[in-house]
Amino acid sequence: MQLRNKDILDIASLLPEEINFILDTAEKMKDISKRPIKKVPTLRGKTIFLVFFEPSTRTRLSFDVAAKRLSADVISMTASSSSVVKGESLLDTVKNLESMNPDIIVLRHFCSGAPHFISKRLSVPVINAGDGMHDHPSQSLLDLMTIRENKGSLKGLRITIIGDIAHSRVARADITGFIKMGAYVVVCGPPTMIPKGIEVLGCRVETDFSKAVKGADVIMVLRLQKERQKHFLLSSEREYNKVYGLSLKHIENADQDVLIMHPGPVNRGVEISNDAADSPFSIILDQVTNGVAVRMALFYLLAGGIKDDN
Ligand code: CP
Repeated sequence: MQLRNKDILDIASLLPEEINFILDTAEKMKDISKRPIKKVPTLRGKTIFLVFFEPSTRTRLSFDVAAKRLSADVISMTASSSSVVKGESLLDTVKNLESMNPDIIVLRHFCSGAPHFISKRLSVPVINAGDGMHDHPSQSLLDLMTIRENKGSLKGLRITIIGDIAHSRVARADITGFIKMGAYVVVCGPPTMIPKGIEVLGCRVETDFSKAVKGADVIMVLRLQKERQKHFLLSSEREYNKVYGLSLKHIENADQDVLIMHPGPVNRGVEISNDAADSPFSIILDQVTNGVAVRMALFYLLAGGIKDDN
């Protein structure tokens, strides 16, 4: 099997069988990270550009580690240390990068649609590492992998996503990915943070926190995206924590094998308490581990392994 598109731009563009193919490949990649020597020559001679216009810890380092585990050469560019600060446009920037013959460009950008815009104008494969409030496909894939690993399948699971749905690209990517793979998704948060018409993605809205959590197989907690909120959407973070903050006491109403997830970065004491984030129900750090495996799989499938060895 091969992926149909040259790029990974959003989770909606992937067929369920392509998602399973990526996750199956990621499972094999995960074994490499458990070896004493965590490196294979698969992408030797390939060059990957990581272009980040927004801060990132997990995604950037995870793409970086993934490329290095496959022996690719990795070149990182952040907007603040590039000629973007001198007024160069995004398109001119990536056209210049393409002139250096990379095999993949990974782009994180604050504008929704930026990876789609450049992918149409470049022949090199583009991976979206998070665009504005739109999508974050590698995050959704690693979340799918982590749930599949723990539950066997997504089919028939009830997954509740709590938090700032309106400003979250992870929420949109996860809702789409989870439903595509057969889960039933409930979103919950303050009405000011639930976008009108979100049900069009196939999820159900529940503003009552206890009803949203009750019976959930998976609870995905999201950070308040304060950097994207243009107006005050809350009276205070304390108030938010009182009504929508997840703590261990809420798990009493959920399934006993419930999974607690969070894409990070975590704001402890706001959207989640220490006792929930560090509990045996939490698989937050497993998500990070699987992020490396998923990104190794994406690089492998898009860069095609060793084709010209001589
Ligand atoms: N989950 C995620 O995208 O985290 P970073 O912003 O740290 O990359």
